[in-house]
Amino acid sequence: MFNVFVIHGPNLNLLGVREPEIYGSMTLEEINRMLQELAEELEIELRFLQSNSEGDIVTAIQEAAEWADALIINAGAYTHTSLAIADAIQGVRLPAIEVHLSNIYAREAFRHQSFLSRVCLGQICGFGAGSYLLALRALGEYSPTLFSD
Ligand code: DQA
Repeated sequence: MFNVFVIHGPNLNLLGVREPEIYGSMTLEEINRMLQELAEELEIELRFLQSNSEGDIVTAIQEAAEWADALIINAGAYTHTSLAIADAIQGVRLPAIEVHLSNIYAREAFRHQSFLSRVCLGQICGFGAGSYLLALRALGEYSPTLFSD
């Protein structure tokens, strides 16, 4: 079984009530349920974390090295600030896909920079909750041989 760790960063526990015009009206629980359904179709095993704490996310990524085959991460605002999360992803050498509900490039300039992109296979943003589903599908298609350099 291919094991994927889905990480939701700060404030994503507020989905559904938080700026629905930007992030949509689905709750995090609904998004996770949708992901779970697709994962079963793709025969992928998922584990989930939502944390508002940078250190907890770093520790969880380190621990994922023991069991996960890949990461899907929406680091929320830490995307734009956290060298520590980027270092953790690079350190564990797990293939990772960076996800955002909103199109961060169509928003404020401070959201245009991602510390994570450099250490991820790729980034999917702008498709609302669909960004997560696209990331999971991308991992379903992922083949290490296509990505090795
Ligand atoms: C976000 C975009 C970030 O800029 C923001 O801080 C978030 C959510 C998104 O999913 O669109 O918390 O990662």
